[in-house]
Amino acid sequence: MALKIAVLVSGSGSNLQSIIDRIDQGILDARITLVLSNKRQAYGLTRASNHGLDTTVVEHTSFESREDFDRAVVREIRESGAEAVILAGFMRILTPFFINSFPGRILNIHPALLPSFPGVNGQKQAAEYGVKISGCSVHFVDEQMDHGPIIIQAAVPGFAGDSAKSMGERILNLEHRIFPQAIQWLAQKRLKIQDRKVEIINGPGPVLEGSGKGQALISPGLENGF
Ligand code: GRF
Repeated sequence: MALKIAVLVSGSGSNLQSIIDRIDQGILDARITLVLSNKRQAYGLTRASNHGLDTTVVEHTSFESREDFDRAVVREIRESGAEAVILAGFMRILTPFFINSFPGRILNIHPALLPSFPGVNGQKQAAEYGVKISGCSVHFVDEQMDHGPIIIQAAVPGFAGDSAKSMGERILNLEHRIFPQAIQWLAQKRLKIQDRKVEIINGPGPVLEGSGKGQALISPGLENGF
């Protein structure tokens, strides 16, 4: 049975698009019950509508506290029937109330190799720091920002001439692959969390692919179709 997910976006929604595409291809066994944004102009909402998905806007500016905002968001997610919450570029810090509403069922993608460069613009921070390797991380969400147990990471090279944009694009290509894969493992109930460690039951080993600027190390590796 498909895992029912709510996808939360604040911006372009390219990660949402990759999830939609993998579902349409029959590779990701999930159903999007709701796309929610805190920003009315988020292009992710247009992508969702183009695919006939239910959308809603809950503007954080309309609430007096973070918790009041989170209560409204959690209510919408519950009403949609979603079992899990996918943060796909959702630029809000969640309160414990939100996190405890979906224990072990909230996933986030971050555009850096955590625990390096948490917070906003991870790819920009990495490019400006001059790292020779950067990447992206999908993790369970806990009460600290960009901190919960890591499910999958992918690494790409960094170059002296990199801007936030060039490094960001290299990373984003991989985000679009590792995020749907992580959601598929969640849907298949193959993620076992022990303290900070996430075991992928019968998971693949790490893989190295591509060459030159397109080279990537993905760990654990991606399964067919991702
Ligand atoms: C991505 O870089 C993601 O890692 C970060 O926010 C960005 C969202 O991009 N959390 P998009 O809206 O999915 O295109």
